[in-house]
Order: sequence, then C-alpha cells, then structure tokens
Amino acid sequence: MKKVNVAIVGATGAVGTKILEKLLERDFPVQSIKLLASKRSAGTEITAGGHNYIVEETVPESFDGIDIAFFSAGGSISEKFAHEAVKRGAVVIDNTSAFRMTEQIPLVVPEVNADALNGHAGIISNPNCSTIQMVTALQPIREKLGLNRIIVSTYQAVSGAGSEAIDELENQSNQFTKRSEIKAEILPSASAERHYPIAFNAIPQIDSFDSSGYTLEELKMMNETKKIFGDPELSVSATCVRLPVVTGHSESVYIEVGQDGVTVKELHDLLTNAPGVVVQDDPSKQLYPMPLFAEGKDEVFVGRIRKDPEHPAGFHLWIVSDNLLKGAALNSVQIAETLLT
Ligand SMILES: NC(=O)c1ccc[n+]([C@@H]2O[C@H](COP(=O)([O-])OP(=O)(O)OC[C@H]3O[C@@H](n4cnc5c(N)ncnc54)[C@H](OP(=O)(O)O)[C@@H]3O)[C@@H](O)[C@H]2O)c1
Repeated sequence: MKKVNVAIVGATGAVGTKILEKLLERDFPVQSIKLLASKRSAGTEITAGGHNYIVEETVPESFDGIDIAFFSAGGSISEKFAHEAVKRGAVVIDNTSAFRMTEQIPLVVPEVNADALNGHAGIISNPNCSTIQMVTALQPIREKLGLNRIIVSTYQAVSGAGSEAIDELENQSNQFTKRSEIKAEILPSASAERHYPIAFNAIPQIDSFDSSGYTLEELKMMNETKKIFGDPELSVSATCVRLPVVTGHSESVYIEVGQDGVTVKELHDLLTNAPGVVVQDDPSKQLYPMPLFAEGKDEVFVGRIRKDPEHPAGFHLWIVSDNLLKGAALNSVQIAETLLT
C-alpha cells in the first residue's frame, strides 16, 4: 500500500490523541505524521510508538505535501482550514459537525455506507459519536429486515465534550468527597449561560437547544442517521443525556423493524455476524454491555435485546461503545484505510 503523509489537527485533544494512537496501532501506511494544534500548544513534545513529535501551530502552509488531514479541533477550525487543506492537495477527514449535513459531502461509517466515499470532492465527514455506534449496530438489522422507526435515549460520557470536561468531572468528584464547593464551568457546554455539576448528576442537555426544544446533539443524531442510511423517511427521535462516566457512550434504543414476527434470536444472529459488533447478552449471567468495559475497545457492544410487549415489530436494545474510538478516532482511521484500498 502507498505510504502517505498525514496531519492531525487538534492532535493534543481527546480525539486527536486517539487518532495518533490508532494510526500507529493499526500500522497505517504513514510516510510522516505532522501534529497540529493551536499556538498555545506549539512546541509541545508528544511521544508515541517510540517516536517524538513536536506539535506545530496550524497555519495554511501546514497542509503543503499532506495527503490525508484528520481534523478534530472544533467546527470553526475545520471551517477555517479544511478547504485550504484540500486546495493544497490533502483529503480531509473531519470529526467536527462543520460539514456533516452538507449534501455533497459524504458522511461515512465504513461498515454502513463505504460506497458514499466514491467521487468525494476532498472533504469527508465523520459522524457524531452517538450516531456512529447506533448505526453500526442497526445496519445489519436494517439491511435484512428493514427499519421504520428509532427512538433513542443516550447516556453519554464526559470525554465526548473534550478533555476539559474530563478534568471537570475529576475536579468535581474531589470537591464532592472533600465536601468543598463544587465548581461547574464547562458542562453542559462551555458556551451555555448556566453550568451544572456533572459529578453525581445527569444533565439532559448536550450542546444548545434549538427552537423545536431538541438539543443540537439530538438533532445531529436524528439528521445524521437519516443521511447515513440514505433514508429521509426514517422516523428517528433522540434524547441525549450526559452522565458522570469518563469514556463510553451508552444508548437505550427502541426500533420498529420492517416486518412482524421477527424473533430475538434472529436479531442475535444478525448482530453476532455483523462487522465491528459484539453481542453481550445473557441475562442469566448478568451479561450486558457497560461503558467501563467498552473503554479502550474498538467494537460496538449490544445487549439487553428484547421484543416490545406491545408492538409486533418493536425491539429494545442497549448499545455501548468507546466514544473516542469507534465514535471518533477509529472511524476516521477506518475511512482513511477504505480510501487507500
Ligand atoms: N470527544 C468526542 O467523543 C468526539 C467525538 C466525535 C467528534 N468530536 C469532535 O472533535 C472535535 C474535538 O473534540 P475533542 O473532544 O478532541 O476536544 P478537545 O479535547 O477539547 O481538543 C481540542 C483540540 O483542538 C485544538 N485547537 C483548539 N483551538 C485551536 C486552533 N485555533 N487551531 C488549531 N487547533 C486548535 C486543541 O489544541 P490546543 O492544545 O492548542 O488547545 C486540541 O488539540 C470537536 O469538534 C468535537 O465535537 C469529539
């Protein structure tokens, strides 16, 4: 396979760090790796896979000679530099929401819609973390049985809000056990008017609200799922909640498949044979997925598969995955691998 020059924008962040780890771990065919961040981190040394890398400030010239640029530094940075990177010859794989719903830009989960990469124009979007794990698990069901409806409630980890949110949970946990004042400055989102403690709490707000009463995170799940599945008529509704979990998003998902009379065993079999999915489902052994055990793993874990007692085509599932891996870094690296094969 041809060796490529890679840049990671946002290399010091929660996602960027994992992109570097995955590139090295998966023997991605790299000629060189350039780590980029803001001016603040320029000069920082990062050691990984026995190499020392020096972080550089992101400027337009950073992309000269780059073949693949992974972006995970926030939407405004992608808006500022992604087109510039493409102009200078790079393919951009963007982890932010900047271009996800732009019609001509593919939104890709390789297990689901790798075909969408054909004919891309330089920028490829990586979906939202909660969306990726859900569509990866639902794809084999949808493909075989059809899918009419999804109602999802998420239980999302603080690492989904970046490294500052992880620090906030740790600090608040210490403040709580020391009975000192709890300081909330980041969650539900840094730009929000009010901040609430996440330690020992559950916050039913991820990102800001729009006029419909849904949050942007919920709308991302709803709109991105339809785009990835190529099914604008699919009925999708989401409620997204932040929990005091460091890494690993969990989701309670209700689905209505395209036909009546499907059994739980059929779903088990479909999911057991699905790429990137592991079924952990045995109530007699208390076996079900949990974020603590999904952290650091590449797969999407599915359990608690039950038939809805009231709807002939309804099922409930519990879906868990590492939001920084399949939900972000791993999926981005898989997109790059797919482009190179
Ligand atoms: N966390 C997740 O689970 C997840 C999943 C999917 C997608 N995403 C998306 O990925 C993006 C990054 O998320 P994260 O969780 O990794 O955030 P993070 O931990 O806060 O990291 C942000 C990164 O962006 C860099 N950055 C900030 N300002 C910059 C600038 N002006 N120029 C260049 N780089 C700059 C930071 O560098 P400095 O060290 O210089 O500040 C840091 O490397 C966000 O858009 C997020 O929505 C996150």
